[in-house]
Amino acid sequence: MTAPAARPEVLALRRSEIRILANAGMGRSDVLPFWFGESDLPTPLFIREAAAEAALAGKTFYTHNLGRPDLRAALSAYLTRLHGLAIGAERIAVTNSGVSALMIAAQTVIGPGDRVVAVAPVWPNVVEIPRVLSATVETVALEPAQGRWTLDLDQLMRALTPGTRALFLNSPNNPTGWTLPAEDRAPILAHCRRHGIWIIADDVYERLSYLGDCAPSFLELADAGDRVISTNSFSKAWRMTGWRMGWLTLPPSLVEPVGVLLEYNTSCAPDFIQSGAVAALEQGEPDIRALRDELMASRDQVVAGLRALPGFEAPTPDGGMYAFFRIEGRGDSMALAQDLIERAGLGLAPGSAVGPEGRGWLRWCFAARPEKNAQGLERLGRYLAA
Ligand SMILES: Cc1ncc(COP(=O)(O)O)c(C=O)c1O
Repeated sequence: MTAPAARPEVLALRRSEIRILANAGMGRSDVLPFWFGESDLPTPLFIREAAAEAALAGKTFYTHNLGRPDLRAALSAYLTRLHGLAIGAERIAVTNSGVSALMIAAQTVIGPGDRVVAVAPVWPNVVEIPRVLSATVETVALEPAQGRWTLDLDQLMRALTPGTRALFLNSPNNPTGWTLPAEDRAPILAHCRRHGIWIIADDVYERLSYLGDCAPSFLELADAGDRVISTNSFSKAWRMTGWRMGWLTLPPSLVEPVGVLLEYNTSCAPDFIQSGAVAALEQGEPDIRALRDELMASRDQVVAGLRALPGFEAPTPDGGMYAFFRIEGRGDSMALAQDLIERAGLGLAPGSAVGPEGRGWLRWCFAARPEKNAQGLERLGRYLAA
């Protein structure tokens, strides 16, 4: 008798190479980890207190499928302030994380056999989620040029053929830090309007932009009736990775069906966790600014440190929390990442984890204290000299 098997689409999903590597090095006191995308400081205290108070006050019940009305109102006020145009609460759905927001967005508009296009290299979930839904994914590659990552707009337009269902675009991008130039938004939107293509913008790093207060957003250009969905998260800007809270900004016509899908996925976000999210939105701006300042300093520290090493190419990230770099003559990033754990005590993510476009590259999450980044750079230098 053959063993019971999962759907072929599920069996074909990529295993996370970052996890394979981290599992090998986790818990080893001799390894300095930079493999995951999170700050090494906990969530700001006032957010933790707001959630703790809510839990103690008994906010432990189911809530509305789309999120608590006060959280949706706080998100509407936040987004309206951030983007300088009214984004009403009736366009917002609260999700249990940024990754859940992506999955719900995909379930809402993508079906079996659909063709989707993604700008890559990119965090694996962005390309694997459409595959869970039996869609096919084609990628358009970012390229390093003159010390920065760039997107060839003509190449993207050629890939967005009539009949394409959706474009997945993550900006600022994990892993490269590439940020969609503001002037590229209008031609992409016009092209997608012409061909009825959905734009699913993964905006989780929009506040971690080193070019301004917020990275250029499609929400600022699109009408409420456009096929534009923004997915977002509390994880990065408010240091809330473990809370699993995110949201979607949708055309109004999608909100009701998204509520139905939420019912069948998670039903609702946890009540007291939503209290923490309201506090984050209402009082979190100084902390976001402090985080961005810290990250900008550590970006400069790590990128300069890498560039000082012989044979290193380290384009400048304009957003996010990662340096994505390569070393001349070291093309197998998984083997190199494993060797760095064994022989240098340094835990980096292999670029191949983010798809074929990342082969030969390594990712360093620089959201760490300066001393830790400095120690990591020192270990890398010593390893190369040995
Ligand atoms: C590009 C991108 N999108 C979405 C997420 C999801 O974040 P979360 O599920 O923690 O909200 C991440 C997390 O690393 C990410 O890098």
